[in-house]
Amino acid sequence: MKAMEEKILKEGKVLPGGILKVGNFLNQRIDSLFLREIGCEIARLYAGCGVTKILTIESSGIAIAAAAGMEMGVPVVFAKKHKSSNVDGEVYATTVHSFTHGNDYRAVVARDYLCGGDTVLLVDDFLASGNALQGLLQLTEMAGATAAGAAIAIEKRFQGGGDALREKGIRVESLACIQEMDDESIRFCQI
Ligand code: G4P
Repeated sequence: MKAMEEKILKEGKVLPGGILKVGNFLNQRIDSLFLREIGCEIARLYAGCGVTKILTIESSGIAIAAAAGMEMGVPVVFAKKHKSSNVDGEVYATTVHSFTHGNDYRAVVARDYLCGGDTVLLVDDFLASGNALQGLLQLTEMAGATAAGAAIAIEKRFQGGGDALREKGIRVESLACIQEMDDESIRFCQI
């Protein structure tokens, strides 16, 4: 999505440690009209795939997932992050390791909200090492649902998470895919 690349170049800022700051339009201040474009693009990419539900994880994935859900006319479910290791029998739960934050957390979804018959589109803002997406995939599999694929606003390809999912046969669509970046330039993948 050319508009996503242009937005990153114009408003993004590369921080030390390979972090791209996009708080001005995606992570803290949300550019609503641009969010609508993101939703439209995700809906276009997955049109005709029989998606019945969108699954994301709190917190920054929720706005993007909701924008896509409105365009696709399907419900949006978000996994909650729990610090506690208590597992309630009424939930699907998995442990996710955050590479960026260096901690583990549990991603939890109530069983009522994911069903065996669902075709699930996984949505998130960033795809880095891919642990959050792998966690969402596990929750989908626990429910006996089918994953249609993933739609990601920004993939940092140099961290390998997207390619690991593709190697597993999961369709991964990134609206912008960063090959490499430093404080002077950002280079996008030509795919
Ligand atoms: P992974 O899921 O792909 O393995 O990545 P990782 O654990 O490293 O990501 C942890 C968190 O950091 C996620 O958000 C993710 O969206 C975010 N993140 C990863 N890389 C970047 C980046 O370059 N820029 C920004 N702005 N965020 C990044 P989170 O901390 O779980 O929480 P939330 O922001 O969704 O609430």
